[in-house]
Amino acid sequence: MSETWANDLDLHLDVSGSRVRLRLEAALRESIRSGRLAEGARLPSSRTLAADLGIARNTVAEVYTQLTAEGWLTARSGSGTTVAPLRGPAPDPGPEAAEAAAHPRYDLWPGEPDVSAFPRGEWLTAARKALADAPDAVFGYGDRRGLPALRGALAEYLARARGVVTAPGGENIVICSGFAHGLELVSRALRAAGASAVAVEEYGHPGHRDIITRQGLRARLLPLDAGGAVIGAAGEADAVVLTPAHQFPLGMTLAPDRRRSFAEWGGFVIEDDYDGEFRYDRQPVGAMQALAPDRVIYCGTASKSLAPGVRLAWLVVPPALLDGVTSCFSGGPSALDQLTLAEFITSGAYDRQIRRARLVYRHRRDRLISALDPLGLRVGGIAAGLHVVVGLPATTAEARAVARGGQHGLALSGLGWYDLAHDAGRAGLVIGYARPPEHAYTTAIARLCAVLAP
Ligand SMILES: Cc1ncc(COP(=O)(O)O)c(C=O)c1O
Repeated sequence: MSETWANDLDLHLDVSGSRVRLRLEAALRESIRSGRLAEGARLPSSRTLAADLGIARNTVAEVYTQLTAEGWLTARSGSGTTVAPLRGPAPDPGPEAAEAAAHPRYDLWPGEPDVSAFPRGEWLTAARKALADAPDAVFGYGDRRGLPALRGALAEYLARARGVVTAPGGENIVICSGFAHGLELVSRALRAAGASAVAVEEYGHPGHRDIITRQGLRARLLPLDAGGAVIGAAGEADAVVLTPAHQFPLGMTLAPDRRRSFAEWGGFVIEDDYDGEFRYDRQPVGAMQALAPDRVIYCGTASKSLAPGVRLAWLVVPPALLDGVTSCFSGGPSALDQLTLAEFITSGAYDRQIRRARLVYRHRRDRLISALDPLGLRVGGIAAGLHVVVGLPATTAEARAVARGGQHGLALSGLGWYDLAHDAGRAGLVIGYARPPEHAYTTAIARLCAVLAP
C-alpha cells in the first residue's frame, strides 16, 4: 500500500446519514479548493476509502468520476486518482475549513485500535452462522453470567492464549459490556461484601478510579517504579486494580516477584488484561490470575482486540465473589452478540484477527520508534500494547507539545491526564499508534515529529 497518498485529505469525514455521495463530493471539493489537498496528491483507492468511511465502494467511485469530469481530479490508469492542478488562486478557506481545522484530524490518543480495520466480513459470517444455528431458547431470558456457548469458548481461549484458569465450561466466567462495566460489577460486589477501599496504580485511567469511588469505595494509590506497582500501599486496601501485562499508561510489565507478592497478599486483585494479546518483543506474559485463581478477578475485553463499539468483555471470578457479581446486574450484552463472538472464537477468526492486528501494530510501532529516534527522546512501554510513552523533560514541555499538536491537527494526550496523584512526577505524551486509519498514519507520525522537534 502506498504511503504517499493524500494524507492531508480530510478523510475523517462524517459522511454518515443521508446524501452520503453529495457530502463526500462537497468535502473533497472543499479540501482541494482550500489547498488542504494539494495538487498532485494521490487519493486512496475507491475500495480503501469506502472501507475507511464505511460506505459502498460504488459511491466513492461515482464521486471520483464526477469530480474528474468537473476537473478537480485526474484519473490515469496505473497511477490512480490524483488532485488536478488548481485553476486560479486558492480562495480563502472560509468558516467551514476554519471549523475543520479546529478539530484535530489525526487522533493519537491511546485506548482505541484502528476501528477502520474491524473484520466486518468475518464478523458477518460468524453472526450469520450463529443466528442460523441458535436454538430458540437463546432469545429468552438467559443465565445472567452470559451464554454457555460464549463462556465455554472463552474458557478454552483464555486457558490457551493467556494461561487463565477457569472452572470447567467457564462456569465462573461472567460476560459484561466492557472492562468499565465489569469493574463496576466487581466494585459493587466488593462493597456489598464489606470492602471499604480499593487501591489503583498512581498512573491510570481516571474514569476507572471514578467507577470505584462511585460505588462508595475509597481509592488508594499504588506507587509505580520500573517493576510496576509497589505493593506497600496496598496493605490498607481490600482489593487492588492492576495492569500487570502492560501498565496503563506507563507500559512496564509487573515484575515476577511483584506478581507473586500481590497473588499472596490476601486481598482481591482485579487484573485488567486490556491489551495482553499484543506483545511484540518478549515472550508472552501470561495472566497473573493463574497464580491465585481464588483471589484474582481476571478481566478481558474485546475493546482492543476487535473494537470498543462491540462492548463485549469477560470476567473470570473467584468462587467467593461470583454470587455477589452476578446479583449486581440483570444480564449482560445481547445474546446475538454473545453468540457471534462465540462463533468468531471457535471458528478461529478471533485468533486470525489477533495475529493480523499484532503484525500491523508491531509494524506501526517500529515505524513510530524509527521516526522518533533522531529526536533523542526516551520512548517507553514499547514491548507491548497499542501505545508508547514519549518522555519529555518537564510538564511545561508536555503542555506545549499537546498545544502544538492541536495546531498541527493532532489530538495528543499528556501523561498529566493519567496522573491520579496530581503531583506530576513524570512528563510526556501517551501516543496511541493504533488508532489512526492506515492511510493517515504516515502523516500523523510526520506531524508528531514536527511537534516534538527541538
Ligand atoms: C487501562 C484500560 N483498561 C481497559 C480498557 C478497556 O475498557 P472497555 O473494555 O470498557 O472498553 C481501557 C480502554 O481504554 C483501558 O485504557
